[in-house]
Amino acid sequence: MKQQNNSVSRRAFIQVAASGGMVAGAVRALSQGSSAAVSARRKPDQKSVAQLRCPPLDRVRIGFIGVGGRGSSLLGNLLEIENVEIKAVCDLVPERVQRAQRRVVAREQPEPVGYADGERNYENLCRRDDVDVVYIATPWDCHVPMAVCAMKHGKHAAIEVPAAMTLAECWELVDTAEQTQRHCMMLENCCYGEIEMLVLTLVRQGVLGDLTHGECGYLHEFAGLPPATHKPEDWRWRFLGKLNGNLYPTHGLGPVAQYLGIHRGDKFEFLVSMSSRERAISRRCAALPADDLRRQATYACGDINTSLIKTALGRTIMVQYSTVQPRPYSRINLICGTGGTFCDYPPRLHLAGQTGDWETDLTKYHEQYGHPLWKALRARATKSGGHGGMDYVMNWRFIQCLREGLALDMSVYDAAAWSSVVPLSIASVAQGSQPVTVPDFTRGEWRG
Ligand SMILES: NC(=O)c1ccc[n+]([C@@H]2O[C@H](COP(=O)([O-])OP(=O)(O)OC[C@H]3O[C@@H](n4cnc5c(N)ncnc54)[C@H](O)[C@@H]3O)[C@@H](O)[C@H]2O)c1
Repeated sequence: MKQQNNSVSRRAFIQVAASGGMVAGAVRALSQGSSAAVSARRKPDQKSVAQLRCPPLDRVRIGFIGVGGRGSSLLGNLLEIENVEIKAVCDLVPERVQRAQRRVVAREQPEPVGYADGERNYENLCRRDDVDVVYIATPWDCHVPMAVCAMKHGKHAAIEVPAAMTLAECWELVDTAEQTQRHCMMLENCCYGEIEMLVLTLVRQGVLGDLTHGECGYLHEFAGLPPATHKPEDWRWRFLGKLNGNLYPTHGLGPVAQYLGIHRGDKFEFLVSMSSRERAISRRCAALPADDLRRQATYACGDINTSLIKTALGRTIMVQYSTVQPRPYSRINLICGTGGTFCDYPPRLHLAGQTGDWETDLTKYHEQYGHPLWKALRARATKSGGHGGMDYVMNWRFIQCLREGLALDMSVYDAAAWSSVVPLSIASVAQGSQPVTVPDFTRGEWRG
C-alpha cells in the first residue's frame, strides 16, 4: 500500500478496504419501494461519480448547517486540521451559531458568517461563493434537501448518518451528485475506527480468506422516556414513535460493507427484516401518572430489529438495531471467511487451524496490519477526540482527499446503499418480513 507524507490514495485505501416533518413522507415512500428499485436509468445530463476526482483545493472552505451536538463535535475536529477555513455557520438556534462563531474566532480564524433566521436560511449559506464543502449535521429528514441544495450550488456535501430516510431520497442524492459532479459523502465515522481499519487490512491482505458472512449493528441503549411535549431537539422520537425497522444502520454496516467490497466487486441484492414486539418504551411509560398521554400512546419501533442482507456474490450480513434494550454498547463488527473470524466488543480473532478459544491479545496484528492512517494520526486523533479518534481520522482523510483531488473512500453510492436499509427494513417488516430488493444505485458499476 502506497503511503507518502500521510498520503493514502483512494486505490490504496480501497485495496486495504477491499482486498485484505417528513416521517409521513418516509412512510409513504416506502410503499414505492419496488418502483424506486427499478427506476435506475441514468439521464443524459448525468455521469457516474464512482471514481470522481475534482480539482485539488489549496484550502478547504467549509460551511456548516447544524451545530447542535454532532455539528459542534465535527467543528472541533475541523478547527484542528490544517488548511481548513470555516466560512459560514447555520442553525435554527441563534445561540448555537454564536457559540460556533466564537470557537472559530478563538482559533484565530475570521468570524464565519452566521445564519440563524429560519428553516430555509441554509439556502443562503449554500449560495455563498467562498464555500467549497457544506457539512450537514441536522435531523435525519433535513439531510437530503440540504445536500441537494449544496450540490446544486456547486458545493461538495458531507452529510451525517443516515444520509437519507427513503429510497426516493437515496436516488435524489445519487442523481444530484451525478448531475453536478460534486462529492456527496456520508460522514460514516465508524469506517475510520482503529479496529475497523485494522480489520479492513486483515481482510484485504487475505488473512480471513474468502469472506462469507458479516454481522453488525447499533446496539446502544439511550432512549429514556418519550418527551411530554414536542420540542425540536426531541426529533429522534418522531421517528422512533412512528417507524418500525432499522432506523440507524450505517455505523455497523459501513465497515462491514467495506470489508466485503460492496460496490467494488459485490453489492447488496435483497434484504429481509424482522422486528421484535415493542415493550421497553411502553413499560417505562406505564410508570407515569394515569392521566399522562404517553401511557396511552403506541410506539411503532420494536425493541430490536434484525435484518439480513444477501449480496450478489451470495454472502450474508446480519444488521441489528436497538436503542432501548438494556445491554452493553456494541456494533458487533463480525466478519467471517474461510481463513477465520474477527469479532469486536471485545476485539478478538480466531484463525483457521487455531485450536481453543478466541485470540484476544491482538498486539502482533496491530503491529503487522495496523492501518497507516492510524499509525500516522494516532496522537492527534486521540487528542482531538470524537469517538476515540475516529472522527478526527475521518475528517482529516476527507480534507486530504479534497486537497489532493483524490477520489473519496466512500461514494454517494455507498451513502445511498447503506442508508437504504432504513426504508427497506421498514418495508420488509411491514410486509411480514418479505424480501425486498436493494436498488443498484451504481447502475451496474458495482463490479468495480
Ligand atoms: N456520526 C456520529 O457518530 C453521530 C453522532 C451523533 C449524531 N449523528 C447525526 O448527526 C445529526 C445531528 O444529530 P445531533 O445529535 O447533533 O442533533 P441535535 O439536535 O443536537 O443537532 C441538530 C441541529 O440541527 C439544527 N437544525 C435543525 N433544522 C435546521 C435547519 N432547517 N436549518 C439549520 N439548522 C437546523 C438544530 O437547531 C440543531 O442545533 C443526525 O443526523 C445524527 O444521526 C451522528
